[in-house]
Amino acid sequence: RLIQTLAEWLLEAQHTVILTGAGMSTESGLPDFRSNQGLWYGRDPQEIASVYAIKHNREDFVDFYRWRIKEVDKYKPHIGHHLLTRWQRQGLVQRIITQNVDGFHHQAESHDVIELHGSLRELYCMDCGHRTEAKRYLQEKGEVCPQCGGFLRPDIVLFGEMLDTQAIETAFAEARQAELFIVLGSSLQVSPANMLPMEAKEAGAKLAIVNLHDTLLDPQADLLIEGKVGEVLQKTDEWLNRK
Ligand code: OAD
Ligand code: ZN
Repeated sequence: RLIQTLAEWLLEAQHTVILTGAGMSTESGLPDFRSNQGLWYGRDPQEIASVYAIKHNREDFVDFYRWRIKEVDKYKPHIGHHLLTRWQRQGLVQRIITQNVDGFHHQAESHDVIELHGSLRELYCMDCGHRTEAKRYLQEKGEVCPQCGGFLRPDIVLFGEMLDTQAIETAFAEARQAELFIVLGSSLQVSPANMLPMEAKEAGAKLAIVNLHDTLLDPQADLLIEGKVGEVLQKTDEWLNRK
């Protein structure tokens, strides 16, 4: 069985790196982006989640992120997030890299998580750099900087923006070190995150992908499990416990 193989590879590999996407959090209740019920389905993210939107469509931008911050606050990490934390403590997983901005790996107390796209935990002022908690966005005029009256934005990577250099460099270094690289719940359509699996593979890692639907890298995967992340991780954990 595929799950058994994943469990065996986890036990064998000296360095396992996990890359998660929005499919990691759908079982918590959050929608993903590119499925039929996803946030970007039938919608152009450039119009809402971009620097352009901050300039030309600010009201929709603030409404959208106010809603996102509220949504993320409504839900919490599921058993899958907690299992990754446990595997990390057991030495089965060396690094978690995520594209998610929900902060669920943090909430599940995983350590050294690389949040490639930032997080919705904090806002910062585009004018003076002042940082503050995201829940401020939920207040009226919450987007106005208390220090300088400038514009507060979520501390995430918007469309058309560069990723944090340190984060991306560490992520690529981890990928090159990996013996096993596991993708959990990502369509792998967004660069540069979607280049990490191939970076790992070219450096000799095995590539496993767990996803409900097709991803761009299915043909490159050494192990492909079509299923729900939370369920697959739970079944894998059962296998690990049998050993
Ligand atoms: P996508 O929505 O593109 O892909 C999520 C994938 O997860 C889809 O292929 C789904 O089929 C799959 N999926 C959904 N629920 C699942 C489950 N329970 N188990 C397994 N698979 C499941 O999301 P990402 O690949 O994360 O950027 O998208 C990458 C980036 O695009 C995001 O980080 C976001 C977005 O614009 C920012 O927020 C900056
Ligand atoms: Zn300010």
